[in-house]
Amino acid sequence: MSKSIERGELLHEGKAKQVFHSSSPDHVWIHYKDDATAFNGVKKASIRDKGEVNARISAYLMERMSSAGIPTHMDTVVSVRDHVCTKVDIIPVEVVVRNVCAGSICRRFGLEQGKVLAEPMVEFFYKSDELNDPPMSDVHALQFGWAVEWELAYLRHAALKVNAVLQAFWDELGVTLVDFKIEFGRDKNGHILLADEITPDGSRLWEKGSNRSLDKDVFRKDLGDLGDTYRELFKRVFGHGLTEG
Ligand code: TMP
Ligand code: ASP
Repeated sequence: MSKSIERGELLHEGKAKQVFHSSSPDHVWIHYKDDATAFNGVKKASIRDKGEVNARISAYLMERMSSAGIPTHMDTVVSVRDHVCTKVDIIPVEVVVRNVCAGSICRRFGLEQGKVLAEPMVEFFYKSDELNDPPMSDVHALQFGWAVEWELAYLRHAALKVNAVLQAFWDELGVTLVDFKIEFGRDKNGHILLADEITPDGSRLWEKGSNRSLDKDVFRKDLGDLGDTYRELFKRVFGHGLTEG
C-alpha cells in the first residue's frame, strides 16, 4: 500500500530523527540522522553510520515485536535510513524497563551500578525536553490528562512483553539488556502502537563477561568511538557489516 508514498514537508526535527509529512495523511516519513546528543542535547556530535545502524536495528526489532503480537507504527522500510510509519499522537510518557541498575536509577536511589533487579521494573518519565524528562507516576498522567487508566496498564504490559522478547534476543547474541526506553502513540482510531524506535541510543547493552557498553553510554561517558561500537553491534545483530550482504 505504502510503496508509492512520497516524502512531504518537515513536520518535526528531533535530536536523532526527522519526521516528515508524507503523501498519505495516515503516515509519516521518518529519517534517521547521524547526529548524537546526550544530557538533553548538551553534548553533540555527528557519528558516521549512526543513523543507518539505528534505523536498520529499529526496523528489525520492531518486526520482531510485531511477530510477538505487539502492534507497532512500522509500515515500510524505504531506505536504510528511512521508514514510512503509521501517524500517531505520541503519548508523552517515556516507558523505561530495567533489568539491571544503571544510569538515573543509581543516581536517584544511591544504588550500585550493575545490581541485578529481582524483577524487571517499569518506570515512567514525562516526555519533556524543557523539564529534562522528570520521573512521574500514574497519578500525574491521570490528573494531567496524558493517558487514561487502561492505557497506562497497557503501556506496562506491552513494555514487559517487549522486554521479554528483547532480553531473549540480546542474550543469544551474548549481550545483557540492562535497560531501555520506548514510546507509544495513538493512531487515528485510538489504538496504541509501539512507536519511535528501539535502538542502542535508547538502550543499555553490556557485552556479557566484560560488561563493556555497546550503546550510547560510549558517547555519554567517553568510553570509546561510538561509530565503531555501533558498526560492531550491527555485525553482531546481522552477521555482516553495513555494506556487506
Ligand atoms: P536513565 O538511566 O538515564 O533513566 O535511562 C534509562 C534508559 O533510557 C537508558 O537505556 C537510556 C534511555 N534513555 C533514552 O532513550 N532517552 C533519554 O532521554 C534518557 C534520559 C534515557
Ligand atoms: N536523549 C537525550 C539527549 O539526546 C539524553 C540522553 O540520551 O542522554 O540529549
